[in-house]
Amino acid sequence: QSTIYRAGTLGRRPVVPTDFAELERRAKRASSAEAWAYVAGGAGEGRTMRRNRAAFDRWAIVPRMAAGAVDRDLSTEVLGTRLPSPLLLAPVGAGALMGRDSDIAIATGAAATGTPYIFSNQGCNPMEECAAAMGETPRWFQLYWSKDERLVDSLIARAEAIGAGALVVTLDTTVLGWRPQDLNLGSLPFAKGLGIAQYTSDPVFQEIAAERARQPRERPKVTLGAIRALLAMSRNHPGSFWDNLRSPIPRASVETFLDIYSNPGLSWEHLATLKRRTSLPVVLKGIVTVADARRAFEIGVDALVVSNHGGRQVDNAVASLDALVEIRAALGPEPALLLDSGIRTGADVFTALALGADAVLLGRPHLYGFALAGAHGVAEVIRNVVAELDLTMALTGARTIADITRDRVRAEPGTA
Ligand code: FNR
Repeated sequence: QSTIYRAGTLGRRPVVPTDFAELERRAKRASSAEAWAYVAGGAGEGRTMRRNRAAFDRWAIVPRMAAGAVDRDLSTEVLGTRLPSPLLLAPVGAGALMGRDSDIAIATGAAATGTPYIFSNQGCNPMEECAAAMGETPRWFQLYWSKDERLVDSLIARAEAIGAGALVVTLDTTVLGWRPQDLNLGSLPFAKGLGIAQYTSDPVFQEIAAERARQPRERPKVTLGAIRALLAMSRNHPGSFWDNLRSPIPRASVETFLDIYSNPGLSWEHLATLKRRTSLPVVLKGIVTVADARRAFEIGVDALVVSNHGGRQVDNAVASLDALVEIRAALGPEPALLLDSGIRTGADVFTALALGADAVLLGRPHLYGFALAGAHGVAEVIRNVVAELDLTMALTGARTIADITRDRVRAEPGTA
């Protein structure tokens, strides 16, 4: 914290703004309209996104004085691994909208601060290359459950091979939410094949795509639209799109991806197979109810990410911070609960931890850092959030993460 603070007081201006509002403004200026719509946008009217933030405003931090919290330790253990701070980087798909080799850059920036990065199944660089960029820093892998069980197993095997610390299965995106900003621009990258590097680099996926290519008459109707969109995409984003895919993707790959990347019929029966399919700790992401949380721990998962996908899936949904409070109250202190959706500042991290999160994930902010200054920008965003958390601890009398207890926050009168 002190380095950033001193630089500021000595008149040095950082490349990456230290507050979220300015970070967002600058990232918007650095992005194309299509990239901004996808990354910054939310579902429907944007109510879930706003509610995520409003939930933080309904809690107030209660500073304690003269507590002598001089030497602070922000490290904490998550799933058996000690992390330098209770912060991880959330998986983000299609980051290459904001610049080439997005996932390698984000992985590099995360590693510069020892912060784990959760590689998205919809990432823009193969997970093996991202892992290589991280050295010893923990990396996790996020899976979207494919319609093809062979692909599920192949992705899990690759995650194990890159030394992933956990397998995160995202449940809230079996179909993509209603995203008017993208729809109005006709620019949803997802349907256009952006972010399919984990698939095209997968041997099982390649086999499936090849099998399908040998059966031309079975091509789905989306094909022509997808190819047209793909061409439009390559015009809209010269460079980044093709560069990230290394070579023009065979048509069969795009079709196969669109057909099998997700299983809308995903059920608890599928999820119950996870613990015998992998030796990795299993984390379910996207849970916002007590009932689902209980069910998850019943099938033996190791942790949850309480999340509404940054407000990108269901409009007017429950704020993830509110869901965390309910789930922690119902399940007690033991189960590992991570939180994302709406974390913007160190004070937010403090509030989430006080309300029962063991750690938090940062989503859009790290992508904005990437948009502004690549890997360095990602590292700076992390450092700023951690620095503010550190100062907040100093000023509230918390020496360790374990000191950030429930009594460090209280509900705003008349709200919670
Ligand atoms: C996401 N998110 C996401 N989640 C996931 O499990 N797999 C994915 O591929 C993606 N892709 C993705 C792309 C973009 C551009 C964004 C902004 C988000 C959701 C992400 O992991 C996380 O839940 C939210 O971003 C957290 O909310 P905030 O911090 O953005 O408010």
